[in-house]
Amino acid sequence: MNLVNKTKNTFALTTPLYYVNDVPHVGSAYTTMAADVLARFHRLLGHEVLLITGTDEHGQKIQRSAESLGKAPQEFCDQISAGFYSLWDLLNIKYDRFIRTTSPRHEAIVKEFFERVWAAGDIYQGQQKGWYCVSCEEFKEERELLEGNLCPIHTNKQVEWRDEQNYFFRLSKYQTQLEDFYQSQPDFIQPESRRNEVMNFVNQGLQDFSISRVNVDWGFPVPVDAKHTLYVWFDALLGYVTALLEPEAETTLENALAKWWPINLHLIGKDILRFHAVYWPAMLMSADLPLPQRVFGHGFLTKDGQKMGKSLGNTVDPVALVQQYGSDAVRYYFLKEIEFGKDGDFNEVRFINVLNADLANDLGNLLNRTLNMVKKYCANYALSITNENITDDNPLKAIGVNLEQKVQKSYESLAFNQACEVVLSLVQASNKFIDDQAPWTLYKQGKQQEVEKVLYAVLESVRLAAYLLSPVIPNISSDIYRQLGWEIDFNQQPESAVTAPFATHSQWGLLSNKQQLGQPQPIFKRIEPAKNS
Ligand code: MSP
Repeated sequence: MNLVNKTKNTFALTTPLYYVNDVPHVGSAYTTMAADVLARFHRLLGHEVLLITGTDEHGQKIQRSAESLGKAPQEFCDQISAGFYSLWDLLNIKYDRFIRTTSPRHEAIVKEFFERVWAAGDIYQGQQKGWYCVSCEEFKEERELLEGNLCPIHTNKQVEWRDEQNYFFRLSKYQTQLEDFYQSQPDFIQPESRRNEVMNFVNQGLQDFSISRVNVDWGFPVPVDAKHTLYVWFDALLGYVTALLEPEAETTLENALAKWWPINLHLIGKDILRFHAVYWPAMLMSADLPLPQRVFGHGFLTKDGQKMGKSLGNTVDPVALVQQYGSDAVRYYFLKEIEFGKDGDFNEVRFINVLNADLANDLGNLLNRTLNMVKKYCANYALSITNENITDDNPLKAIGVNLEQKVQKSYESLAFNQACEVVLSLVQASNKFIDDQAPWTLYKQGKQQEVEKVLYAVLESVRLAAYLLSPVIPNISSDIYRQLGWEIDFNQQPESAVTAPFATHSQWGLLSNKQQLGQPQPIFKRIEPAKNS
């Protein structure tokens, strides 16, 4: 499915805006890595891409976290959001916009949006009674609660009873309009299981929800009544809009929406689906604005089979992980090993095994031993043949010529694991091919052309694999390309002219006898498991 805004050739996507109640954990890194991979893939296709990420800094949860440390909330937010910036750098995330919801520009956009909804008659005062989970920043139905009034998501947190005057948003008014929208845009919510979840929720009948709080200071005042603070989710979702503003543009809703709206894809975790797939479109309908194209709710990460989360205290520290293993390794594991959309597990032994098997052995050793064979068997460390010498019945060529379509389809449907697996099947076939063909024997038999054909087919397969995996492992791919004689850095794709366009580089046969091969160097060092693990 092509989701690019065809007339504009643009692709705008978002990660959630992360709460700054605590340092980032691997769950936040997960969505952002996936978003970055997709953004890089679209850039290869030549699309103009806007990747939005940022931090959600208001609300009671953050106010309390700051208080518990004796810090002023803004100072606390500044400190924690800095950790997200540096983690994104460590993970090699090429984001275009980082929106912080405490920015003054954001307040102006929220105010203008609120006024549109107010003018539509969709905001009224009422009494809010119910159980509130501060960690979710969400009211819960009594029937959802676990024993002891515990939140079903933050299972060690008790919900709190609220009975207060709030402003409400008339969500119920949009029941039919939303139902019609889901019908006419069946791809709006993905994967299918999440769509079903949302449909069930909506079919039960939508209730208005409160969009203001009393007794919470940390947030924007409600524009029509400064005694109330705007509910953090009403403010947060609009962060996606503020992020679209050009740095120099005057802060108006019109300017924000001018180029990139509607957003092509919101990437989120399954726990915040309702906000993105129900509340957000309804708010936009009320403000009479076009709706985003797609919301994809991925699964949850567990650690050694256990639920993981900031509030549960068993998180994996993404900073430590990247510092120990490097960004490509971390990106590869989470995207290759977990089906995006399903829950997945992090386990360090498995992590090490996967990286050693796929990157150190299958890909790394293959390149290294093949380049060394070129050194040994070919004059001047160069191949004398080109793709024309390789017949269509070559098993690697047969896989290679069909690869690009499958990989493109996988990336576009966010099946990152499938994209990696399809590419890896070429790498594995290459390892088998070289062992079966035994170029060392062919060389001894004086069959020089045959030797070079084998080496060509393998090196071209490695090149193609490196290219197609470059959104996931940009450093390793750049390294492979360098060793094969290209000066292409996959981290430096200029916006104007893509240096390695998909239309040419995804095709089998690009390697030529003109390539000045580089020195063989290991591209991924085998990880030795720690003695005690
Ligand atoms: N601030 C809101 C989002 C506002 S978007 C306008 C929020 N923030 S969060 O920091 O709590 O969560 C951010 C994302 O991290 C969510 O998509 C959530 O699903 C995801 N994850 C939190 N724990 C996770 C795992 N254990 N595994 C995978 N993702 C997880 O919600």
